[in-house]
Amino acid sequence: MDKLLQLVHVSDLHFGDHLLNPSWMLTARMAGGLATHDLDAALALTDSVDIQRLSGLDTRVVATGDLTTWGSTNAFGTALTFLRNRSAAGPAKYAGLDDPDSAVVPGNHDIWNVMQRYAAGGLGLPTSLRGDFDLFFTPPVPSPHSGTYFPYGVRIPCGPVAVYLYGLDSNRLELAPYPLLQTLGLSIIASGYVPPAQLDELENLCLPAELDEPRIRLAAIHHPLAYKSINSIPWWYVKKLINLDEVLGRLQDMGFAAALVGHEHSGFAQKANAAYRKRTLEVLSAGTSTQLVYLDSAQRALLARGYADLAPDEQPAWLAAMSETNEYRTYVFEADPGVDFAGDHIPPEALAAEVLEFKYSPDDYEFKRVDPIEGPYRVPLGDYVIK
Ligand SMILES: [Fe+2]
Ligand SMILES: [Fe+2]
Repeated sequence: MDKLLQLVHVSDLHFGDHLLNPSWMLTARMAGGLATHDLDAALALTDSVDIQRLSGLDTRVVATGDLTTWGSTNAFGTALTFLRNRSAAGPAKYAGLDDPDSAVVPGNHDIWNVMQRYAAGGLGLPTSLRGDFDLFFTPPVPSPHSGTYFPYGVRIPCGPVAVYLYGLDSNRLELAPYPLLQTLGLSIIASGYVPPAQLDELENLCLPAELDEPRIRLAAIHHPLAYKSINSIPWWYVKKLINLDEVLGRLQDMGFAAALVGHEHSGFAQKANAAYRKRTLEVLSAGTSTQLVYLDSAQRALLARGYADLAPDEQPAWLAAMSETNEYRTYVFEADPGVDFAGDHIPPEALAAEVLEFKYSPDDYEFKRVDPIEGPYRVPLGDYVIK
């Protein structure tokens, strides 16, 4: 199998966090650079991606939302530099993934939902608005149909096929049915919604905008297209994509092979299927790569604190916890050189993506490849090649 391309999938960087700090009003405005994060994590992630680049494979970065915690200008600036450039972080040290073409979609922390905006505005707090995200991360190809930036598509050459990666914005809760109930009631805090119009536009994009060439479609979306939370958080309460079935079904109807997701702060790979569809969709979740986050199994909750919030005696325990959660994924695309990709039938295994999971250990300052959740995970893509 010829190796063709590798996509590095990071998520939930959460720059400018201070999530539980009462003084966040100030810090959200002030935090800049890598001040809210453990520097070793940012450096080691940088090194690890650089090492992967030594393979000579074209290496692209995808970030699936929650680039920031409060959507402050400083935090967006840090995220932009970290993903698309690099910044000095000490003598002969640089932090940053350095992919100027990295694909980025927003998370619920980058664009706060409308209720939170009103509440924050009423209290005189900073709020994260849609325009702030667009200012820093204008997607490369604005949608010609809506005048908004989502959905958008980028084409990435991948040997005999092209990967078309489409970004969706799942932070449109204000457009969900019964917005008041959604807001006041069950599932508001971190839920998501993709309006049908965005899916209609995606369908439009998939048809005329794609070149006439063998291709596979991938989606990038912050909220997981999965029915069950990996974190034992009551799924119906805070983390839900309200119209999961609709989004999943439409992507399957459009022949998408996989969706890259975030939001859970834990990596997983699973197959998802809306009712009556022939093929499943691979849902590939990256964890969180640089934020101090841990899963408290006693409380069954995912807790997060800004690194700058820690007292010195708290740091060792938090760093140890971080080694369990810090992770990212790499998808190495491979093709069988003996297969004619222009032919009528392409066997599923003729084009495959190997899913690699990496975790960071702060003790010995090194990234380790770990076995995916249920052993080596390969996604056969041949059946998804569209001609
Ligand atoms: Fe997050
Ligand atoms: Fe999120």
